[in-house]
Amino acid sequence: MINTNYKIGILGGGQLGKMLTLAAQNWEVETWILDVSKDFPAGNSCSHFVEGNFKNYDDVMAFGKDKDVITVEIESVNTEALADLQLQGKVIHPRPEALNLIKDKGLQKNFYHVNNLPTSSFVLFENEKEIQAKLKSGELKYPFVQKARTGGYDGRGVAVIKNEKDLPKLLPVKSIVEPLVDIQKELSVVVARNESGEVKAFPVVEMEFNSKVNLVEYLICPAAVSKEVAAEAERIAIATIEAFDICGLLAVELFLTKDNQVLINEVAPRPHNSGHHSIDACVTSQYQQHLRGIMNWPLGNTDVMMPSVMVNLLGADGYTGEAVYENLNECLAVAGAKFHIYGKKITKPFRKMGHVTILDNDINKAKEKGKLIKDTLKICTKVMSGKSV
Ligand SMILES: Nc1ncnc2c1ncn2[C@@H]1O[C@H](COP(=O)(O)OP(=O)(O)O)[C@@H](O)[C@H]1O
Ligand SMILES: [Mg+2]
Repeated sequence: MINTNYKIGILGGGQLGKMLTLAAQNWEVETWILDVSKDFPAGNSCSHFVEGNFKNYDDVMAFGKDKDVITVEIESVNTEALADLQLQGKVIHPRPEALNLIKDKGLQKNFYHVNNLPTSSFVLFENEKEIQAKLKSGELKYPFVQKARTGGYDGRGVAVIKNEKDLPKLLPVKSIVEPLVDIQKELSVVVARNESGEVKAFPVVEMEFNSKVNLVEYLICPAAVSKEVAAEAERIAIATIEAFDICGLLAVELFLTKDNQVLINEVAPRPHNSGHHSIDACVTSQYQQHLRGIMNWPLGNTDVMMPSVMVNLLGADGYTGEAVYENLNECLAVAGAKFHIYGKKITKPFRKMGHVTILDNDINKAKEKGKLIKDTLKICTKVMSGKSV
């Protein structure tokens, strides 16, 4: 029998936390969010909001003590507290040891090598001077990609170094360096697992990046790849979640190289931007699936009901302040467009303020509609023209 009288604690109250709580509402499963301000996106949708810092040991310990299961919507949480709560018998998904591996891109890459999971080669560096020295001695060659070991997200913490001119971009932190991969497509597979060992992957999606801001511009589902590539991507995602021994979701970002190899880029053990479309386009949403995974419920069907394109709705460049959504009316008229506004009070340039999923049996039409919405909707501030406060 399924018990819905279940207390779920979620570390983080951003949009991923919000969408998790919305999925839980449908089952009358109670949710508690820990984050610094109730003004954050999940503040209104959770059953209970606890003000505190998920990076702080004491806050996480106090938050976790009466929950049945604790999960995360972000990796940068206090894992010492999660490990201690686990010792006290609390159920923590993803397990804190896996979170520690994933939080550090150096440990994460090493994990793939140890477990024979396909990824590019890499070298660890303490600081940028070491990188300069290896370049001088000829041991390191252009082009390469430098990534901060911890704390990076949405492309912040990644430096693409093609030649000497790019050297000022080097990050002055502990980092990994990997060769620049000749990418044909960036793919993602969101996969879920529960304590009973059941595993299910969502169909592989394709991510088109905006190279200026390093954010996903269009998420296309299903990906236009061969059956063989799709099967290989799914195989790798399943092997990866099993190797990490994770319950709940794992989003596996992949590179399809120009010679048709599938390589792991990085993973996230939580709901992910590349699974947003599943709310509207799949039989089960990634958020429902995460809850099923962490509560050891049967996993849901991941089939795609209709092809879709997902577009992140970003704050317009040049505007910081109280957000307004210009031309939203025209955009709401687009057939098949499903809007998700996160409720962030303040907009900033390129901040993720919402997303829209466009359902259309013709994927090219879905993409055209996505572009139209992107060009029409302007998330800015009340000031009439130009820059604002
Ligand atoms: N080795 C690489 N070769 C080519 N491009 C890369 C490489 N690593 C990262 N990138 C590009 O940078 C983006 C961000 O890198 P990623 O490691 O996913 O960092 P983040 O944590 O910011 O998402 C990737 O989606 C890809 O477009
Ligand atoms: Mg990434």
